[in-house]
Amino acid sequence: MPTVIHLRAETKPFERRSPLSPDSAKALLDAGYVVRVEPSVDRIYKDEEFSAAGAELVPAGSWLKAPKEDIILGLKELPDDDVPFPNPYIHFQHCFKKQTGWVQSLSRFARGGGTLYDLEFLTNPDGRRLAAFGYWAGYAGAGIALLSWAHQILNPGQPQGPVPSFDSAPALTAHIKSVLEAPIRANEGRPPRVIVIGALGRCGSGAVNFFRDAGIPEESILKWDMAETSRGGPFPEVAESDIFVNCVYLGPHKAPPFVTAESLSYPERRLRVICDVSCDPNSENNPIPVYSEYSTFDNPTIPASVELVGPELRIIAIDHLPTLVARESSDEFSGLLLPALLTLDRRETEGVWQRAEQVFKDRVAQLP
Ligand SMILES: NC(=O)c1ccc[n+]([C@@H]2O[C@H](COP(=O)([O-])OP(=O)(O)OC[C@H]3O[C@@H](n4cnc5c(N)ncnc54)[C@H](O)[C@@H]3O)[C@@H](O)[C@H]2O)c1
Repeated sequence: MPTVIHLRAETKPFERRSPLSPDSAKALLDAGYVVRVEPSVDRIYKDEEFSAAGAELVPAGSWLKAPKEDIILGLKELPDDDVPFPNPYIHFQHCFKKQTGWVQSLSRFARGGGTLYDLEFLTNPDGRRLAAFGYWAGYAGAGIALLSWAHQILNPGQPQGPVPSFDSAPALTAHIKSVLEAPIRANEGRPPRVIVIGALGRCGSGAVNFFRDAGIPEESILKWDMAETSRGGPFPEVAESDIFVNCVYLGPHKAPPFVTAESLSYPERRLRVICDVSCDPNSENNPIPVYSEYSTFDNPTIPASVELVGPELRIIAIDHLPTLVARESSDEFSGLLLPALLTLDRRETEGVWQRAEQVFKDRVAQLP
């Protein structure tokens, strides 16, 4: 019997990404897998792209009744209710780190006899994540930061509307380049000076490349990583930039913050926009301890949660940034995931699936 991979339609609002592209679906079909796809109006790939690749379209929501050997593939967590899960599932469930609600969430797989291969825990033998969305998160975050800067220069104190949606990264870049012309003129021809911290990582390199693609001159892009922050913050260079994009991967160790209310409180401060791509406002290691909430694509910026002296400062803290460039981010993620998907028919012996299953079993063993 061929192995069946069933791509479900996402139910999380605004989610346009897919862990499977039509090209990857074709590669799986060519390798002898059966690929079933639930139609979705939100998904960045059209249903017809999957049927043209040879996949079978099945009704949305039919994953709930799929034979229990079928592998249910998706991106975000399954809808919140109490139905037990009997199948193998591959998606981000966000419950292995004991996040809020983890017991209820994980016990549904345990009760149903299913297995959760969480995408966050698919790793190489050396423990590195197999597939991640970082690059495009930084790319999109830098784009929204420029939009916010442009908005503040032209409409000080006015609320910024929703972030428009784009079908491709070049469309996003072209839009932002055109939006920047007027504020740069209003700013005496000066483009914004930007600082990216964590610039050597996946998100950081995406952010730096977006600024380049948008025409920000190289000398106006400060690229910082461990070497520059090891002296310990807060850093005047951040307050002296127009835009700060934070892309560090927060480790378990507490480090001095990059900014504080004091370091940002003076009338000549230049900084107007912080885009926190790392986006962990509730962590005690948050290196940007001047805000405590998330923002959204509908309402992309929030003010600081502390009193500040100086010009307006807006903060972007969106935790699903790659959705803005859904096609490119899905193409990249799906390409990274494909080699593992091609070994699903022998997952009982394949390291990547065995390691992920072991994580699942360990967490289930910790259920109260
Ligand atoms: N908002 C979103 O939508 C979104 C999407 C994807 C990833 N993320 C988050 O972005 C963060 C970065 O992810 P990544 O994949 O780019 O990680 P990564 O490991 O590829 O890169 C992290 C970089 O941060 C640097 N770094 C770590 N601590 C530092 C410090 N104190 N000072 C300076 N540099 C430091 C590292 O040297 C590395 O270059 C993660 O927290 C991830 O969860 C957010």
